[in-house]
Amino acid sequence: VFLIIIMGLLVVACGGKTEQPTSAPAEKKDEQAQSASAPEKKTYKVVMHAEFPPFEYLDPSGKPVGFEVDLINEMAKEMGWNIEIKNTSWDGVFEEIGSGKAELAISGITIKPDREKLYLFSEPYFQAKQLILVPEGSPIKSLQDIKGHKVGVMTSTTGALIVSDLLGKANKDILQYDEMPSMVEDLYNKRVDVVVADNAFLMEHMKKNPKPGYVTIDDPNIPKENYGIMANKKDTELIKQVNEALKKVKDSGKYDEIYKKYFGEVK
Ligand code: ARG
Repeated sequence: VFLIIIMGLLVVACGGKTEQPTSAPAEKKDEQAQSASAPEKKTYKVVMHAEFPPFEYLDPSGKPVGFEVDLINEMAKEMGWNIEIKNTSWDGVFEEIGSGKAELAISGITIKPDREKLYLFSEPYFQAKQLILVPEGSPIKSLQDIKGHKVGVMTSTTGALIVSDLLGKANKDILQYDEMPSMVEDLYNKRVDVVVADNAFLMEHMKKNPKPGYVTIDDPNIPKENYGIMANKKDTELIKQVNEALKKVKDSGKYDEIYKKYFGEVK
């Protein structure tokens, strides 16, 4: 035990030299010395909006499951964290990270500059893109063509943004939804003419709720996106750990395993 404490102090001392040359607060040393003798698992609250299959959705018992649930659990296992996953609204995801009620959010969140001003993001772990879904024979063949049609988007998502950039924010033709599954149902029920949403979600929804006569359009003018895990601006140390965890699950082959489970083949 004595040796371990000495080693722990050495680590603290070296860390102090390389990372924070000016200040190594006394409490921090105590904290780390303690954790060296009695390692305690860190507990993190993880928030998500679990209406986004196959990334996160509720199983029949109401428990969040999906690609990102498996991914964050695997990351926690690698890092020795305890995690508590909580389902909330899409807005709630951002509010809880902003207020510090939760430490991490994994929810198919696209890394983009205006979000990076307010939150921290991990390295990308999934590449995505907005797809257009229309009935077969629709005059809509590209994003430009949605002008003059009723368009379904999910509020405050990247899909909503590209549509409002094109049609104007206040355009009455834009119908906003709080989640994506019911938006696609509204397309099937002809309440909207077209929806714009994340590719993997749309493909999964169509696979699980097959409805013949609908086609997706991949417009080459729509840019690719990357999903990142999100944290509070102040949690720079935590986001480093998240990146380390992501690297570990990729290096161990676990990422590919989880990917295969939800998407069939490894990209
Ligand atoms: N990728 C899109 C965005 O970040 C949509 C994500 C929606 N995620 C969800 N869990 N409903 O804006």
